[in-house]
Amino acid sequence: MFFLKRRKSGSENIWERLREEKPEGFFVLAPMADVTDNPFRKLICEIGRPDLFFTEFVACDGLAHPDARERLKKQILTFEKKQKPIIAQIFGGRPENYASAAELCANLGFDGVDINMGCPQKNILKQVAGSELIKKENRELVEEIIASAKKGIEESGRNIPLSIKTRLGFNEVDFSWIEFLLRQKPAALTIHLRTKKEMSKVPAHYEYIEEIVKLRNEISPETVLMMNGDIKNLEEGRELIEKYGFEGAMIGRGIFENPLLFAEKNFSDFSLKEKLKIAKKHTEYFDKEFPANKEGKRMKNFALLKKFFKIYINGFEGARELRMKLMRAKNKKEIFRICDEFLKK
Ligand SMILES: Cc1cc2nc3c(=O)[nH]c(=O)nc-3n(C[C@H](O)[C@H](O)[C@H](O)COP(=O)(O)O)c2cc1C
Repeated sequence: MFFLKRRKSGSENIWERLREEKPEGFFVLAPMADVTDNPFRKLICEIGRPDLFFTEFVACDGLAHPDARERLKKQILTFEKKQKPIIAQIFGGRPENYASAAELCANLGFDGVDINMGCPQKNILKQVAGSELIKKENRELVEEIIASAKKGIEESGRNIPLSIKTRLGFNEVDFSWIEFLLRQKPAALTIHLRTKKEMSKVPAHYEYIEEIVKLRNEISPETVLMMNGDIKNLEEGRELIEKYGFEGAMIGRGIFENPLLFAEKNFSDFSLKEKLKIAKKHTEYFDKEFPANKEGKRMKNFALLKKFFKIYINGFEGARELRMKLMRAKNKKEIFRICDEFLKK
């Protein structure tokens, strides 16, 4: 008995629901640290939302720590009802901390818990987390992690599904890893179609999708399969889904090129006024979520918001100068003033 339960009335398995309701395929905004936070998701909900959101990944070890717990809850695990369905993504190398993290996510109302087994960052690998878990010597640890997360969900009294997001392998493509994961019968499995070694430096390996779908069909047909890597828009996602027969496409960096991709509109078609309106809205949501204290300090650095201006402030005369001005702005008031003055010109 793992995290899959056949749908009966009251089933909380979002993956099964998406599979049933979107037979042509569904689309997910990838978890991205310092990007897919509550203010950004709130904005995306308004301009064109995916079928499913993920949070940024959050450390189980941090959540187990009383000092860090409240901060992480506020910083990463806050969401608004409108964003549902939404999955909380967790990571870590200590199985014992997965139970309480998963229980917390279930109690906070998330529609599922996802375990990150793909992050290639050195500080994550050091914790025996992220893609370090792909290594053969860590199979037992992965089993313990899954069992612990499952226990945590059960303890919450809810019946939400557990899923996994990973890569094709560590140094090389490793189908034994995919097979191993499928034997754990996750409710869903997302494959970022690159190895850890490849980071994001090579094109995603679509050539392996066919074999992965075959393995899924043989080992765990109930597991909902999502592919991820270089998918830029829904059309590309649909084509891949139709060709290979998996269920969902996850899109990450595509949103930087076109924040309207889930609405199947082009941000570049937006007028200057509309673009600035979006920049202001995001600023407003960020400022509200992470307000500055008396010393001007925020729970999340204001510079993280300003990175988004590279996306929004683009494709019109004077964009570069405006962007430079905005990059120097210190708070919401300044951002609003600079945008409004530019519009009056
Ligand atoms: C800025 C950034 C942050 C990311 N943070 C996470 C994360 O928290 N959890 C995760 O599973 N993957 C994370 N990823 C990986 C993405 O979810 C995704 O797998 C990767 O970007 C490939 O998809 P894409 O080509 O559509 O961007 C991150 C990627 C980027 C660019």
